[in-house]
Amino acid sequence: MAKPKVLVTRRWPEEVERRLADRFDVTFNEADVALGAADLTAAMGEYDVLCPTVSDKIGATVLAGGDRVKLIANYGVGFEHIDTEAAKAKGIAVSNTPGVLTDATADIALTLILMVARRAGEGEREVRAGQWTGWRPTHLLGASLQGKTLGLVGFGRIGIATARRAFHGFGMKIAYYGRRETLPDVARELHARFYPDLGELLAASDFVSLHTPGGAETANLIDAQALAAMKPGSYLINTARGGVVDHAALAGALRSGQLAGAGLDVFPQEPKIPEELLGLENVVLLPHLGSATRETRVAMGERALANVVAWAEGRPLPDRIA
Ligand code: DGY
Repeated sequence: MAKPKVLVTRRWPEEVERRLADRFDVTFNEADVALGAADLTAAMGEYDVLCPTVSDKIGATVLAGGDRVKLIANYGVGFEHIDTEAAKAKGIAVSNTPGVLTDATADIALTLILMVARRAGEGEREVRAGQWTGWRPTHLLGASLQGKTLGLVGFGRIGIATARRAFHGFGMKIAYYGRRETLPDVARELHARFYPDLGELLAASDFVSLHTPGGAETANLIDAQALAAMKPGSYLINTARGGVVDHAALAGALRSGQLAGAGLDVFPQEPKIPEELLGLENVVLLPHLGSATRETRVAMGERALANVVAWAEGRPLPDRIA
């Protein structure tokens, strides 16, 4: 019997590409340039399985492109770039890669907290520009983390992993906002205080770190009003999705001093960075590095592969989301 045809839309670490190619008839995107809507639409009629990632927009129009694809095995945990309702309506199964990128993403949240609080980006730019004039007591003073409150918006796996690092490693106090209270063990371990009201969490936090899913439900959750509700001189960290933040309003809050700084790993229209942020010193900008460790990217590939194999063998998908 012919092997199922699989399209992988971006390069994966070599070892997982090889394992996928051992079992399936795989097409890799050798150029590793994001496919356009036309290629993705055509793929719907040419492949049995699509393995897209966050840089691919798979909306209803793309899905209507053909009837051959039966599984979309997303390489990544976030899936707001896929219209899961339209996929379900066509009988296409969808899976993601949860769990394996929790630690790497929490590490990047802490990287951003430290970089923005200790003004590491500004310092590095100064050194590289040959403008450092030497040590002095008032040079590039930042904020310490000890005893400060970290407010987490969204307290799932990544939010909790971020809180653990901040609490155990840096002596921060933990507060969170989410749909429901966390498990008693987690609350006890982290002395975590639950805020059922987002505005109250924002007002109580020195650092706010976003850990919600993307999509319509959280679009512009952090808008001008939310930014005005934050403690004056506090910091915003985003490793979730760019669409959760109104970036024009954020730039205003950074310029006025309402916020002391922001650390961002994600943007609404990647790889475009909102113009108004580029000229600001008090924002750290990273190119969506949350899961970017070799170990994590291999684990993500293995997780996507496990779903493709389960589908091919007619077993339930381990990570089915639609
Ligand atoms: C995900 O998995 O959703 C990430 O944003 C990509 O690393």
